[in-house]
Amino acid sequence: MKLLYIHGKTGKSTLLIGERLHHLHHAIAGRPAVIITDTNLLALYGKDFPNYPVITIGCGETIKTLDTVSSIYHRLVELEADRSFVIVGIGGGIVCDISGFVASTYMRGISFGFVATTLLAQVDASVGGKNGVNFSGFKNMVGVFNQPEFVICDMNLLHTLSIQDRLCGFAEIVKHAVIADADMFSYLEKHWSQALELDSDVIEKLVYDSVVIKAGVVNRDETEKGERRILNFGHTIGHAIEKTAGFPHGEAISIGMVVAAGIAQRCGLLTEIEAKRIENLLTRFQLPTRMSCQPDEILSAMRKDKKREGEDIFFVLPEGIGKAVVRPLSLARIGQLADGL
Ligand code: GLY
Repeated sequence: MKLLYIHGKTGKSTLLIGERLHHLHHAIAGRPAVIITDTNLLALYGKDFPNYPVITIGCGETIKTLDTVSSIYHRLVELEADRSFVIVGIGGGIVCDISGFVASTYMRGISFGFVATTLLAQVDASVGGKNGVNFSGFKNMVGVFNQPEFVICDMNLLHTLSIQDRLCGFAEIVKHAVIADADMFSYLEKHWSQALELDSDVIEKLVYDSVVIKAGVVNRDETEKGERRILNFGHTIGHAIEKTAGFPHGEAISIGMVVAAGIAQRCGLLTEIEAKRIENLLTRFQLPTRMSCQPDEILSAMRKDKKREGEDIFFVLPEGIGKAVVRPLSLARIGQLADGL
């Protein structure tokens, strides 16, 4: 097991990479606790949960609402949960986002931690302190920055993931390598096949390397005023594709990264060979790199992006492999630069 830390203004977070679900009671450390999980996780791993009350929610993005939050508050009141309690979200990104938001607002905020059960949650969604829910058709529109006290990443839980959920995690892993770590990118080019098979040494290294990158960025810019924006590489176009074409998150950001790499090449930040390496690696991970779409629809979905400031979007462009820059670009300019990609 390896430890990493985030020292946020909203608290310190201990990230336990390679820790096991059945050691969760160590992190709870004798406090009263409530577990929040989803129906799938309960069926698969409920037998391994420590003995605390469990609040179960449904699965899928449509559950990430204020109604779900409200129903959890009701259960917490019934359970007479007070400020001495710790809330533990056991699940993927949706469970982590909801339980972090509930814990941050119930009684003005109580302690919380996560057991991240998906690859996406381990390398991205559980780490960083953003918690929230969707609202009025917008992703993560209502939420808070607040660091979980602990995050347990147990690789043994990944074997029950669907292939689509695995790919979603690999898209974020590739993203981390492109924006921050050229050695990790080369490692992925050599070990993609073992990674896809969830070889334990390879996957633990990739989760660790990803969390090192994310924790480092969050430590320097917790509330996304500057550097943290680089974590949105592939996401501006990716979210628009997700919304308009209904692609799963990982597939949409894979296409978003390839388009952003193409734009970076047109801006002289990336060579043709580097752009091709990014595309080839994503293809190795069985992720799509192109789609036929109506550019107008994508641009109009981007117009609704909450990260937009005035006419400009902070657009992330790789600068070689292992580094990225953020450029304010107007939607019209993005449309021109992406034309034909
Ligand atoms: N909780 C996810 C993030 O902070 O990015």
